[in-house]
Amino acid sequence: MMKLALPQAVRVVEVGPRDGLQNEKVHIPTEQKIRFIELLAEAGLPVVEATSFVSPRAIPQLGDAGVVMAGLKRLSGTDYPVLVPNVKGMERALQAGVRSIAVFTAASESFTRHNINASIAQSLENFRPVLEMAQREGIAARGYISTVFGCPYEGAVNPRKVLEVARALLDMGVGELSLGDTIGVATPNQVVEVLDLLCGEGQIEMARLAVHFHDTRGTALANVLMALQMGVRTVDAAAGGLGGCPYAPGASGNLATEDLVYMLNGMGIATGVDLEKVVAATRFIAPLLDHAPASKYYQAWQASCM
Ligand code: COA
Ligand code: ZN
Repeated sequence: MMKLALPQAVRVVEVGPRDGLQNEKVHIPTEQKIRFIELLAEAGLPVVEATSFVSPRAIPQLGDAGVVMAGLKRLSGTDYPVLVPNVKGMERALQAGVRSIAVFTAASESFTRHNINASIAQSLENFRPVLEMAQREGIAARGYISTVFGCPYEGAVNPRKVLEVARALLDMGVGELSLGDTIGVATPNQVVEVLDLLCGEGQIEMARLAVHFHDTRGTALANVLMALQMGVRTVDAAAGGLGGCPYAPGASGNLATEDLVYMLNGMGIATGVDLEKVVAATRFIAPLLDHAPASKYYQAWQASCM
């Protein structure tokens, strides 16, 4: 039988409490956010991105970041990174006892302008002191690059721009890069093109790359499968398929953790994640939202309960 080049294990990075909830219109009480994060950690997810120390004016939903981190019962084996846009955010994060952060920029100028009111170059300069602080404190840093496969304002994005931003972030001390399909337009051939450029000509180690797909047009799992075949071992997902991005009009949810784990389980690829416990976390948060979770697995599970 033909042998496919697939990994034995995949590290799933849960972004629901941050990337998911930041885009929810209805106010979610702090205690419920804390419980949601705890349920996801209890499901065995090795990384649960908990919240965001950005300007509360920009993202009111996550204005309670300090209280969330203070109230969270942390499991020793779980990493709880937070988003940090500038020194002010880093100071708040340090005060809250954060041990792992993520900075974020994009591969398209107009998106960066809308999202963080800066050019890509300015955004990178803002991160320099943040990453220096992180290094001093022994805090791990991830770098998000948004709009890698397309931009809501500019359309096509040149993979060379992705490489340029990736190199700059790595040179500044970012340990891992998450390549984001912010508006969910990518198709598997683009995944090949981008990874090939970054790891071939760009000589970036595949182990430093994570992929972050949105399922807006139904291509997220196909893109994941292609990324796995190319050697990627870290995949971002959000419980229930929550989220999107407030600065990316029409961007529907992240790839759902349930859908990803279901596929990986079926393929015999280990994640350490208990799928039914992820469903339980989604079931906990769902009644607090003003819409049904987009996860296909979750919907099938619900239908089977009727
Ligand atoms: N935490 C809390 N408050 C912050 C802050 C932070 N990390 N960064 C800035 N602020 C406050 C400043 O104190 C200032 O408040 P004031 O007017 O009361 O003095 C105000 O926000 C404006 O600060 P400024 O430095 O001029 O920032 P800005 O208005 O240019 O905004 C960002 C830049 C990056 C801070 C802001 O756009 C932001 O937080 N964006 C987040 C976007 C996001 O999370 N998107 C989703 C991720 S994909
Ligand atoms: Zn996302």
